[in-house]
Amino acid sequence: MDTRSLGGSGLTVSSLGLGLAAVGRPGYLNLGHGTDLAGRREVEALEHHTHAMLDAAWEAGIRYFDAARSYGRAESFLANWLSTRGIEPEEITVGSKWGYRYTADWRVDAETHEIKDLSRGHLQSQYSESTGILGHYLKLYQIHSATGAVLEDHAVLEHLAQIRDQGVVVGLSVSGPQQSETIRQAIQVRVGAVRLFGSVQATWNLLEPSAGPALRAAHEAGMGVIVKEALANGRLTAREGSVAQALERWLPGTAPDAAALAAALARPWADVVLSGAATPDQLASNLASVETPVPGELPSIAEDPERYWSKRSSLTWT
Ligand SMILES: NC(=O)c1ccc[n+]([C@@H]2O[C@H](COP(=O)([O-])OP(=O)(O)OC[C@H]3O[C@@H](n4cnc5c(N)ncnc54)[C@H](OP(=O)(O)O)[C@@H]3O)[C@@H](O)[C@H]2O)c1
Repeated sequence: MDTRSLGGSGLTVSSLGLGLAAVGRPGYLNLGHGTDLAGRREVEALEHHTHAMLDAAWEAGIRYFDAARSYGRAESFLANWLSTRGIEPEEITVGSKWGYRYTADWRVDAETHEIKDLSRGHLQSQYSESTGILGHYLKLYQIHSATGAVLEDHAVLEHLAQIRDQGVVVGLSVSGPQQSETIRQAIQVRVGAVRLFGSVQATWNLLEPSAGPALRAAHEAGMGVIVKEALANGRLTAREGSVAQALERWLPGTAPDAAALAAALARPWADVVLSGAATPDQLASNLASVETPVPGELPSIAEDPERYWSKRSSLTWT
């Protein structure tokens, strides 16, 4: 697999990365998650499953791994895997995020799965937890679903600058119909006359490509760009019939998930596209995207962003 720089951040990433949101805790909101993890919901079984996914990803050449404090035990599963496999920090780029606290207590039917708190105090405590688990492997620390308000919170920005000055790249992820505005705002944030954010992680997929121009601007400004939700949480797979048919007409003979990921990989501003695979079979299918050439014209299946994000917020945890 091709490796490249994550923009001007100084970090190296593979073109496809692996996100751990679906495998660090028993519940998630992707469409078929309940079935994906059936029989593997105990901590030990889920860690074993996650390690098998990480082994397959490593074998395929994936070198960027994406976690968050709120992804259950994702950081610990990753740290244990890195240590048992003897992988050195220089061989890999690990990113994590702060801002949401995991509150489901390993239950799928929990009333609240995560609580958002983008205060400086929460940054301090979560950074200390993340570095306690990941140590020197932690190379990128991102605000989880940044808002316009946190990008104006001087206490948070100053603290992020201290983290940056210790050698950890500081980034942000964005979500929702306001992604483009937040990305453009983040490009302008400076602390000590230097741009604060080394990377941005955003949703871009064939149903919701509206952040494309803002992501291009971020890339041109020197930020690394990480694409998440390239499969629209499982909608750009064989699961949604009309979408799968459109993808089959666009790239005949290619599995819909590989076609959708290939479309994201072909964006010139995308440094790394995340696979959010929940099983080794899904990962194997996703990996075909790396070898899939893409025509210049994309299939016209984009939805109105407000409609897309309203469907996204109605997904249930399974
Ligand atoms: N705000 C944020 O910062 C944020 C938000 C979301 C995600 N992320 C990051 O982005 C990563 C990817 O996000 P995501 O998991 O939401 O993205 P996604 O790539 O849009 O969806 C992944 C899901 O698609 C389904 N899938 C994948 N391959 C398949 C196949 N071959 N056949 C059938 N279904 C298949 C699986 O779900 P089912 O089987 O359950 O349908 C899988 O969990 C996460 O792990 C996380 O690291 C960050």
